Amino acid sequence: MKTKNLLGLKELSAQEITEILDAAAEFKKILVQNVKKTPHLAGKSVTTLFYENSTRTRLSFETAAKYLGANCSSVSVSGSSIQKGETLIDTGLNLDALLTDVIVLRHPMAGAPHLLAKNVKAAVINGGDGLNEHPTQALLDIFTLRESLGKIKGLKVAILGDIKFSRVARSNAWGLSKLGASVTFCAPKTLLPAGVEDFPCRTLTDAAQAVKGADAVMGLRIQSERQKSGMFPSVAEYAQNFGITESLMRHAKKNALILHPGPMNRGIEIDSAVADAPNSVILPQVTNGVAIRMAVLYLLTHRSIN
Ligand code: CP
Repeated sequence: MKTKNLLGLKELSAQEITEILDAAAEFKKILVQNVKKTPHLAGKSVTTLFYENSTRTRLSFETAAKYLGANCSSVSVSGSSIQKGETLIDTGLNLDALLTDVIVLRHPMAGAPHLLAKNVKAAVINGGDGLNEHPTQALLDIFTLRESLGKIKGLKVAILGDIKFSRVARSNAWGLSKLGASVTFCAPKTLLPAGVEDFPCRTLTDAAQAVKGADAVMGLRIQSERQKSGMFPSVAEYAQNFGITESLMRHAKKNALILHPGPMNRGIEIDSAVADAPNSVILPQVTNGVAIRMAVLYLLTHRSIN
């Protein structure tokens, strides 16, 4: 990669995305060995800086950094001087002063990683910024599709749920479409963002139509932490019309893959019978998240300068 930071998939080319996927495939070979350590990041320092809760993203970045032999530290809002009013830029400058090579930032404000990247020497990776992007999540989703189905070009991928507040949906729309997949967003009208027509995808409000003939169906959590109330009449009605059930999956291709970025709300956006079915790749997505994050950490710290 030639860029110093990974801020979003909107700004990456198909070639750069493929470079990350190919590197992740090599790192996955290390992940499945008994001894998972390699010295690819020996002597480097990675810091996770999370202003929002996380299980998968934070843990997989930290696991990836450690498997690559880097020193890894974490800063969270509780227990740090962010609680005392320190700004994002001042926190970043202090991480620079501590000579960290990479900062992985999760922040509730869209654009926060871009602001940090302009102000620090360290490489910045967007670990999710508000409702803007979550690039490494989409990369691991795309990696999982390519690993399971052998290709991305020509695939039909339906993404159902809270599109309006989903950074995962946005990053997947950019990444999948750049690699030649057809993406369909599906949500009630109140959960579609203004300007949805600017995304490289089809938009529907009928779930059966959205999954018709799909190779893969991705469910999204209701992002209640970002929503005002009243986005839909009731959770039960939402689950009935937009939840991924065995009955809905009959409209998709036989054995279509089931994806979910997690955390899942079983019985709301996805039924347990679907989440735990043999064609669900929800847990392989988590394993692949470590391989993708190893690849991104490696490529950003060994980038070509020209
Ligand atoms: N998919 C995802 O971002 O999960 P976490 O919030 O647990 O990191």
